Amino acid sequence: MAAGTANLSEKMVHPAVKPLSDLLGTWKGEGEGFFPTISSFNYSEELQFTHSPNKPVIAYSQKTWNLKSGQPMHSESGYWRPKPDGTIEVVIAQSTGLVEVQKGTYDMKEGVVKLKSELVGNASKVKEITRVFKVENCELSYVVEMATSLTDLQPHLRASLKKL
Ligand code: HEM
Repeated sequence: MAAGTANLSEKMVHPAVKPLSDLLGTWKGEGEGFFPTISSFNYSEELQFTHSPNKPVIAYSQKTWNLKSGQPMHSESGYWRPKPDGTIEVVIAQSTGLVEVQKGTYDMKEGVVKLKSELVGNASKVKEITRVFKVENCELSYVVEMATSLTDLQPHLRASLKKL
């Protein structure tokens, strides 16, 4: 476990993961949730990207809490698989039971990872999910949009986090 942290020496980071190594570590911050069909809400979040030495994959895990009450909210975890050609595939399992296969691109000169769902499974109403992550000045921000059976693609989450 301890070896799978951001403190890996440069040469232990797999070449496929190296372009995304700014992500590795633990991030904490706050976000806001909204959607046309629900009341908006605020949450705190802890997010981790870890890497096992010499594996071409980043493990991802996220937990959220209600900002006012501290009660746990949504959590999810998965794996990010960057390819040398700038494409990336991501699998995520959510605490609600929903699963996602996301495909997209990364451009770490711009500090941007863009993902669009290729598969959303075990979901009662979610049809599509997009996720855009940005890393800039030691800040990680993201926007998650979703489409449901009743609503077109619209933002559901926006957050910004600092590396611990
Ligand atoms: C509502 C999906 C992440 C908190 C919803 C709804 C869906 C959904 C389908 C119901 C919308 C409707 O009724 O029209 C998702 C997906 C997520 C995600 C696909 C990730 C990709 C999160 C996160 C949080 C969260 C991270 C908390 C930090 C909520 C809350 C509601 C909600 C509080 C309103 C519930 C209610 O009023 O009944 N979400 N969600 N969601 N979501 Fe998410």
